[in-house]
Amino acid sequence: MSNEKKSRKPLVAGNWKMHHGGLSGVELAGAVARLAREVPHVELVIAPPYTALAAAAHECDAEAAGGRGDVRVAIAGQNMHASHTGAFTGEISSAMLKDSGCTWVILGHSERRQHFGETDAAVAAKTTAAFKQGLVPIVCVGETLAEREAGHTLEVVKRQLDAVLPVLHAHVATAAAIAYEPVWAIGTGKHAGPAEAEEVHAAIRGWLAATSATLAAQTRILYGGSVKGDNAAGLLGCPNIDGALVGGASLDAVSFGAIARAADALASS
Ligand code: PGA
Repeated sequence: MSNEKKSRKPLVAGNWKMHHGGLSGVELAGAVARLAREVPHVELVIAPPYTALAAAAHECDAEAAGGRGDVRVAIAGQNMHASHTGAFTGEISSAMLKDSGCTWVILGHSERRQHFGETDAAVAAKTTAAFKQGLVPIVCVGETLAEREAGHTLEVVKRQLDAVLPVLHAHVATAAAIAYEPVWAIGTGKHAGPAEAEEVHAAIRGWLAATSATLAAQTRILYGGSVKGDNAAGLLGCPNIDGALVGGASLDAVSFGAIARAADALASS
């Protein structure tokens, strides 16, 4: 593994989507917090639904305090509004995520782009708002099957990345994360092969480097899309894949644990 890759701690983030919004979410957060002690070379983040954020954060704090005290699972929002406050019925702001115990936020997930009409400009505005509040964004990019088949993968990903690059550069010290998630691989059981994913990750690293060498060196580029325990090592072993954004397999501690352990084994080898 290159020294530059080694300098980036692997990040494994669980996106629970619209699952585990109550007591089951608190239990899962506790299980992930216990898991964190077994994978010290990996940074773990969970993104519960809004209704479970505060309770999950509390549970993770309690587990960390009961253990060695130094391992804490970080909490992420799955989305947020770009405004700090205001008349936006049903929305949630960066300050509210912060108040609920979040330190991270997932932005521009393809489900937000596809089903809720989020544009590149909206994702950029949210990214700016997140940094302002001290939340670290995981900005998602990725092409649809039609775009891949038409040979537009890199063009689409570059367009999505270009929208947020100036913002990421302005906050280079925060070291945000980017998640490459091919839309056709999300929730389908069809993951990109390591070489297929690495090609896009290397392109993203190159675009970051064209803006700033520091930005390229510090930004963790996660792969997302049907990551499971049995494909995690192949993906995470690639030179430009620094972690995973996990949906389905993050919904129970055993399958999430298998991915976290694969990342830990690679990072400690
Ligand atoms: P999946 O979801 O792991 O269920 O494919 C990934 C994601 O949407 O972040």
